[in-house]
Amino acid sequence: MDPFPPLQNDLLLRAARGEDTPRAPVWMMRQAGRYLPEYRALRASSSFFEACRTPALVAEITLQPLERFDLDAAIIFSDILVVPQAMGLEVRMEKGIGPSLPDPLRHPDDLRRLAAPDVPAELGYVFEALTVTRHALAGRAPLIGFCGAPWTLMAYMVEGAGSKQFARARSWLHRYPDASRELLGRLAETLAEYLVRQVEAGAQAVQVFDSWAGLLGPREFEAFALPCLRDLAERFKQAHPDVPCIVFARGAHHALQALADTAYDVIGLDWTMDPAAARRQTGPKTLQGNLDPAALFADPATLRAAVRRMLEAFGPRRHIANLGHGMHPDHDPARAAVFVDAVHEFSETLRKAE
Ligand code: CP3
Repeated sequence: MDPFPPLQNDLLLRAARGEDTPRAPVWMMRQAGRYLPEYRALRASSSFFEACRTPALVAEITLQPLERFDLDAAIIFSDILVVPQAMGLEVRMEKGIGPSLPDPLRHPDDLRRLAAPDVPAELGYVFEALTVTRHALAGRAPLIGFCGAPWTLMAYMVEGAGSKQFARARSWLHRYPDASRELLGRLAETLAEYLVRQVEAGAQAVQVFDSWAGLLGPREFEAFALPCLRDLAERFKQAHPDVPCIVFARGAHHALQALADTAYDVIGLDWTMDPAAARRQTGPKTLQGNLDPAALFADPATLRAAVRRMLEAFGPRRHIANLGHGMHPDHDPARAAVFVDAVHEFSETLRKAE
């Protein structure tokens, strides 16, 4: 028997499976975070990773955006970098700077320092947080679990911090192709188990963030990033064939068709991608996205017009409305409400006009 409260809003799950829905479901990447004063208030008393390790706090932060906006999904409050931590690398979150890894991978020999983690033991706090959050959600909307893609995690593990170009990480692919493949393969294996167990703990859909996919040329993406992304989805789907799996490969214009040929159910688009062109490349797959987060700085009328254009470009079916990347810390929560409400309103009108 399902131990959780019954789900009252399954729009996202249905759209992800390609089923018809009365309107497009909507959520926002980075919907929980610093643009919300109630998030900043909670974070004032604990560090970022302490908050991630405290299930009651995770549940509260995850639900904060749902208290304000009419969202069709919650995404668990955590970070992609908890996996490198579980493999033995120290990761700090520096205020105003972002992630920093004081002792990154510098040479293939450093792979020996990386543990094959006991996932339930090292990441048990994430699973516990998912279970607590799923109960706290009380069936209002599905709970999304997530992980970073192997390449995006490798980028941080080699570079040691965020970067515009990740030149050091990219150079690994050329200097140490075998060690790179080994690292990516080990990440894919760990991440697959991590996602599978997230579902067992309460996640109802999962998203893989390949935020730095766009730094790779088509050849490197195909040779290094794509095989482990594909492997990750196949392993996940073997365990949970019916649980929707979303891939967001930011900047990977050239890869949309290849991604559509994998086991992912949904392909996320960033705001530089054209929905109509993506439709041609991805066939029957459901698409997610892709309003430029910067459009939330426009006045409400201009923002609403941009939302309408976006919905028209995707068409009325097989679309999960979202931003083309995450919320900014300086976004006004009131504009997020305009975005969400405009999706509801225009999406229903477009459906009815059919
Ligand atoms: O609401 C949600 O989206 C859920 C939680 C979530 C966070 N990080 C919380 C967070 C998710 C899904 C992520 C994913 C993540 N983390 C990605 C992929 C998505 C993307 O934006 O491309 C990446 C690349 C990271 C790594 C990371 N974590 C960076 C670069 C930073 C610093 C920059 C920033 O946006 O703040 C973080 C910190 C982080 N992760 C914060 C939050 C709410 C802010 C930390 C704080 O409170 O000080």
